[in-house]
Amino acid sequence: MASFLGGPNEHQLHLNAVIAGLMPGTRMPGWRVEAACASGGVAVHQAVRLLATYDPILVVGVERLSGLPGAELTRNIGMAGDVILDQAEDLNFPATYALVAQQHMARYGTRTRDLELISLKNHANATKNPKAHFHHKKVTQADIDAGVMVASPLRLFDCCPVSDGAAAVILSSKPLGDHSIPIAGSAVRSDVISLAQRADCTTFPAAREAAAAAYSEAGITASDIDMAEVHDCFTIAEIIAMEDLGIATPGEAVKLIRTGDTEIGGRMPVNPSGGLKAGGHATGATGVGQICEAVTQLRGMAGDRQVVDPTYVVTHNVGGVGGTCAVHVLRRSM
Ligand code: COA
Repeated sequence: MASFLGGPNEHQLHLNAVIAGLMPGTRMPGWRVEAACASGGVAVHQAVRLLATYDPILVVGVERLSGLPGAELTRNIGMAGDVILDQAEDLNFPATYALVAQQHMARYGTRTRDLELISLKNHANATKNPKAHFHHKKVTQADIDAGVMVASPLRLFDCCPVSDGAAAVILSSKPLGDHSIPIAGSAVRSDVISLAQRADCTTFPAAREAAAAAYSEAGITASDIDMAEVHDCFTIAEIIAMEDLGIATPGEAVKLIRTGDTEIGGRMPVNPSGGLKAGGHATGATGVGQICEAVTQLRGMAGDRQVVDPTYVVTHNVGGVGGTCAVHVLRRSM
C-alpha cells in the first residue's frame, strides 16, 4: 500500500487496514510504504524482494490531492523536502525544479522551447490515454503561451497537475495466466534530500545508480530499452530522467526531443501515457501506474498510444528532488 500524503491531506494513516477493510475476513499481512512521490515505485521494489516470503503480493498505490487549498497542498507536498534547508526557506517543488532547469539551461544551453516540446508531446499522448488527467484537453501552443509563470522558467504547462488516482499490480514468482509480464530488474537508491546538499543540480545520482543496478539485474544496457515511462513532475525532469537513465548523454536529451524521437512513433518513446505532466500525478499511485503502463504496452494493449513491439520498457519514479529513485525494467513475455 503506497501513499505519500494520507496523513497531512486526509488525516488518514494506517491505510493498509483501510484496504483490508475492502476484503473483510482475509487477514492478509499488509503495510504502508512511504517515500514521497516515489512511494509507488519503492512499494513495487519491496514486493519484488519479498516474493520469497509472500506470494503473490498485491501492491496498491493511492492518493487524493484535490480538495485542499493550493497553498496548503503545496506546503504538504513540500514535506518531501528538507524541513530546515528547503521548507523553512519556502523552497516549494515548482521552485526546486526551476533551479534544476536554470542550471541545466546555463550548462547545456537547454531552451524553454525544449520544455514546451515535452509538454506538447505529453499532452498529445494523454489524449490517447482514457485514464489520463488531461485526456479530454487538446493543448495547443496558444495554451502554452497563455500559461502563467509559476517559478521561472517553469510556466503552468511545465507543471504536473494536482491529481487524484490509484493503481494496482499483482506480483508473483510464478506466471499468473498467459499475459504475465516479467520484471527483469528492480532497484531503489536514496540520496541526500536537498539540492542545497549537492554540487550538481542537473543529474540525480540516485536515479543513475538505481538505473545501473536495474539494468545489471536485467542483463541489459540502456541501448536495449525500447520505451520509457519517466517521472516528469515538471518538464525539465523528463530531460534529467532521460540523461540519468542513459537514454541520452548529459545535455543531449534535447536532441531526441527536437527530432521527435521521444514521440510514440519515434525511436525512443518517452511517456506515451502522457506522463505525470498530462497523465497526472497522484503521488502515491504514480510509481505503480508506471508499471501498469509498461505492462499494457508490453502486452500490446495500449490502443492508440501503442508503441511498436517493445521488448524492454523502463520505469523511473522519483521522490522529492532525487532523494529517492526507483527504476524497474520490464520485459516482453517470451
Ligand atoms: N498544467 C496544465 N493546466 C493546468 C495545470 C497544469 N499543471 N494545473 C491546473 N491547470 C489548469 C486547470 O485545468 C484549469 O483549467 P480550466 O480553467 O480550463 O478548468 C486552470 O489551469 C486553473 O486550475 P487551478 O486548479 O486553479 O490551477 P492552480 O493555479 O491552482 O494550480 C499549479 C496550478 C501549477 C500551481 C498546480 O497544478 C500545481 O501545484 N502543480 C504542481 C503539483 C506538484 O508540485 N506535485 C508534486 C511534484 S514533485
